[in-house]
Amino acid sequence: MKIKSVSLLLIFSLGMSGCGSNPINHNLTPTPPMGWNSWNKFGCGISFLLAREMADAMVSSGMKDVGYQYVILDDCWQLAERHNGHLVPNPETFPNGIKPLADYLHAHGLKLGIYSDRGRLTCENKAGSYDHETTDVQDFADWGVDYVKYDNCNPAFLSNQIEDYKRMRECLNNCGRPIVFSICCWGFADWMPSVGDLWRTTGDITDKWDRFVELVDTNQQYASYCSPSHWNDPDMLEIGNGGMTDVEYRSQFNMWAIMAAPLIAGNDLRTMSPATLETLTNKEVIAVDQDPLGQQGTMVESSDKDLLIYAKNLSNPHEKAVVLFNRTAYGAKMTVHWKAIGLAEGKAKVRDLWMHKDLGEFKDSYKVYVPSHGSAMLKVFQN
Ligand code: GLA
Repeated sequence: MKIKSVSLLLIFSLGMSGCGSNPINHNLTPTPPMGWNSWNKFGCGISFLLAREMADAMVSSGMKDVGYQYVILDDCWQLAERHNGHLVPNPETFPNGIKPLADYLHAHGLKLGIYSDRGRLTCENKAGSYDHETTDVQDFADWGVDYVKYDNCNPAFLSNQIEDYKRMRECLNNCGRPIVFSICCWGFADWMPSVGDLWRTTGDITDKWDRFVELVDTNQQYASYCSPSHWNDPDMLEIGNGGMTDVEYRSQFNMWAIMAAPLIAGNDLRTMSPATLETLTNKEVIAVDQDPLGQQGTMVESSDKDLLIYAKNLSNPHEKAVVLFNRTAYGAKMTVHWKAIGLAEGKAKVRDLWMHKDLGEFKDSYKVYVPSHGSAMLKVFQN
């Protein structure tokens, strides 16, 4: 009996070798993570200087003050080949490695995210972490990384997706540093909520209206899996990247917030228009996303397949957040009924989260004009 448990212990500690032995509580992101990621705007064109400038802009624009904190390097910070078994930051773009960036971010009250892949190569054919998870996680921890996005390209021959992600989770849990785990498998599977802090429910976003709408519909199917520290991720924001109108971008922000999605900006923060900045920093909408109850809002009422009303429960049981989303090609009057959003018929107070204004009391329902592809976001309060 004794021999058995000693050998089990030995197997366990060998399996964990190099990862240390202090499991860390992994409820690291009790509300949806907020930050910036390089991929949507810059693809492989990233560098230490670019990331530092984004960090500076995150602070000077006021984004940090409203909750954005992670600066996430996506694919291409690393070379295709390892050196002595370690991942190598591209020496041209990260000449002093990754640690100085982590130090810079931490000194400015921000956090560093990094990207790797469960295969031998990433989606852009840089070195992935398969078979090197322990070394890579230890390096990330030593550099001061706070968040890992883990992609799904080029799986190793006969490897198993669930096992690959669980192995990474185990290493992260035991590396001696709190590190958020973002699963990027381009679709939901029910093992994800017990392995990741957040997980992609969709394929990649593009900066186009049709794709944005598709992602909303896919992500909404998994609402029941969302809870504090466990987030459905319909991919990053495209706000400010130029392929949609400001009205459509505002709709992306409203929909991400009502769905309690991670708010990861994907634009050039150095050159934002006032409209982009206003959208990304609307505190009242962010508060809906970040509400501690951690429930994902769902579609509760529709008068047409493209005139949709979503509602989200909030930690104040007397209050609901509501988005009226007009996907049609024409402006339309839309009505939200108190009964549909889980309130009683009778009077309720309405606040508009873009006008930042209390609109008064309304009986049973509220009607508002919503432009084509636009959305209104309200809070409805009833005693
Ligand atoms: C996949 C991911 C994207 C991005 C790229 C990088 O497509 O889904 O979010 O990380 O890889 O190559």
